Amino acid sequence: MTQPTPAAALDARLVRYFEDVRAIAAQPLSPSAKVRRVRELASALVAAPLVVGPEFRRFPERGYGRNLLYRDPDHGFVVIAMVWPPASGGLPHDHGTWGVVAVAEGEVEVTNFEREDDGRDETHASLRSLGVVHGRPGATATVLPPHEDFHSVRNPSRERFAMTIHTYGCEPADFHRVDLASGAMSRGTLAYDNVRAG
Ligand SMILES: [Fe+2]
Repeated sequence: MTQPTPAAALDARLVRYFEDVRAIAAQPLSPSAKVRRVRELASALVAAPLVVGPEFRRFPERGYGRNLLYRDPDHGFVVIAMVWPPASGGLPHDHGTWGVVAVAEGEVEVTNFEREDDGRDETHASLRSLGVVHGRPGATATVLPPHEDFHSVRNPSRERFAMTIHTYGCEPADFHRVDLASGAMSRGTLAYDNVRAG
């Protein structure tokens, strides 16, 4: 269990972003309308460099880092700083909620997938790529169930780190991940490398 880091000073633009997303989350909008509006905010957020301290750039020995910056006490959405070491990436996975991925530093590739089977088998999924977004700072991508939920992210650079800011409509605690080659699907549980308290 990750112990929360005391509410450290964050870039004022990030704090403002949390407030602006809160205002959207409070409205009776459809998930697609929410994702559209949050995407606009996220684009503006990463249009200029963000100041994120080393305490929220943690990553494990293998794989990529998940640093929880904000969890909304009323509406449940979360904002996560994901840290991608060179050549790191994850399997296609879903979250069961809307999401916006915004590239803050470096370069990432985000692939969205469509599920081609009927979705009833809990152990197997047939995924078809809907295309790859090559993201540089300022770029955004979205996920939206039920048809555009599965996605994968990777850092194609062999030298540079990348950082992305992810906003999800609710805590993406449980998810499905899919091995593309075999179609084997398993359940996973999200663990954070650091959590900002307060
Ligand atoms: Fe994700």
